[in-house]
Amino acid sequence: MRIGVLTGGGDCPGLNAVIRAVVRTAANHYDSEVLGFRDGWRGLLEDRTTPLDIAAVDGLLTRGGTTLGSARVAPQLLDAGVAQMKGVLAEHGVDVLIPIGGEGTLTAAHLLSQAGVPVVGIPKTIDNDIDETDLTFGFDTAVSIATEMIDRLHTTAESHQRVLLVEVMGRHAGWIALHAGLASGAHLTLVPEEPFDIEQVCRLVTERFARGDSHVIGVVAEGATPLPGTMGLRDGGVDEYGHRRFTGVAQQLGAELERRTGKEVRTTVLGHVQRGGTPTSFDRVLATRFGLHATVAAHEGHHGQMVALRGTEIDLVPMEKAVARLKTVTPSRLAETAAFTG
Ligand code: F6P
Repeated sequence: MRIGVLTGGGDCPGLNAVIRAVVRTAANHYDSEVLGFRDGWRGLLEDRTTPLDIAAVDGLLTRGGTTLGSARVAPQLLDAGVAQMKGVLAEHGVDVLIPIGGEGTLTAAHLLSQAGVPVVGIPKTIDNDIDETDLTFGFDTAVSIATEMIDRLHTTAESHQRVLLVEVMGRHAGWIALHAGLASGAHLTLVPEEPFDIEQVCRLVTERFARGDSHVIGVVAEGATPLPGTMGLRDGGVDEYGHRRFTGVAQQLGAELERRTGKEVRTTVLGHVQRGGTPTSFDRVLATRFGLHATVAAHEGHHGQMVALRGTEIDLVPMEKAVARLKTVTPSRLAETAAFTG
């Protein structure tokens, strides 16, 4: 059998571990070949390939990023390119395609699957917002990095009796903010799922200082927004999937807080540091298990499926279900976090 593999969307720690697992499972258990497409769907559309054998994946387990390269490709381009992608796959004799990616990549994978291409999807994103899987690899690494950074901010905030706001990634889902906030003992966590009330945020800051607390740490997901009509945010336009974006939420909230409370506020935007570098051991294991199970599913003919973590086991779920909606933070998880803030 010949398996095609590509990594699409934003990179994340663990992608190389998956590629390694696919290649090693294909070669060692099935004597199959693996062909990589460069830069996600773009490489498939433009017929840019690289053969992947055991030697090519040597040393990849611990390396961040993706050796295949990645890209974000507009959905319209993919819609229009289905026939072309099918042609390239047929030309290379690819029997099953394993796309590794987030919402956009898996939606495109579903499209190809509906068009008759045998596909087994692997979910990845630091945001952890893919539905039907308990977790995606990359998330644990991102949370660990964010937690370490926030731990560091506590001591400097304390020394200066300041409010320190940390902006973490998460455009549509606040999982990173929620977990890093809980892990680092943040006093305030703002997520996209629940618009924040600027007056309530000011009250929290004022009350903490009034009772003698030394500092305030607030974790703000980049997709957090204020309650409508309470505070303006800079419009960041619309992303490739048609979702509205705002930019610099933590910085703008910080300026507003400083103005309203008279407290010194500093803002740190963690940005892409959350996506770079070595995956945690948890992510290496999850990525490896996903790669192994996807390759087995490809050989056993379970196409149109996505591998998913359910409890402690790796299952297969219909891709159609996985891409139907994003997995966002639930009210009960928000309530848990709220119990530990303030
Ligand atoms: O989806 C992963 C992610 O890191 C989001 O958290 C973030 O909003 C986005 O990608 C950033 O994308 P880019 O790297 O294209 O700026």
